[in-house]
Amino acid sequence: MTAIADPTWTLVGRVEDVPMLEGRTTAVDGRRIAIFRLPDGLAAIDAHCPHAAGPLADGIVADSCVTCPLHGRRFDLTTGLALNGDEAVAVHEIREEDGALWVRLA
Ligand code: FES
Repeated sequence: MTAIADPTWTLVGRVEDVPMLEGRTTAVDGRRIAIFRLPDGLAAIDAHCPHAAGPLADGIVADSCVTCPLHGRRFDLTTGLALNGDEAVAVHEIREEDGALWVRLA
């Protein structure tokens, strides 16, 4: 089934709107979501860092992780777990279909 036909998925933009190794913020059901484009795929996590609400979409992306720009917590984009702290962010499903990006909340 395509995401278009499934109401649990939300259209959030086009893949070309997200530069490689950068994040962009979008909203799904009133929740801020950070989406990332990686060399081997896409990732979607909650946009606010659980430490002090830093803007994770503005963080540096490397090795499938994003580093929060405020205090440096580093989150694995596949698990949501901080590599240097006890916090975690929710990881959401994201898929691309014909260049369109779709997110389904966890
Ligand atoms: S707000 Fe992200 S590490 Fe502090």
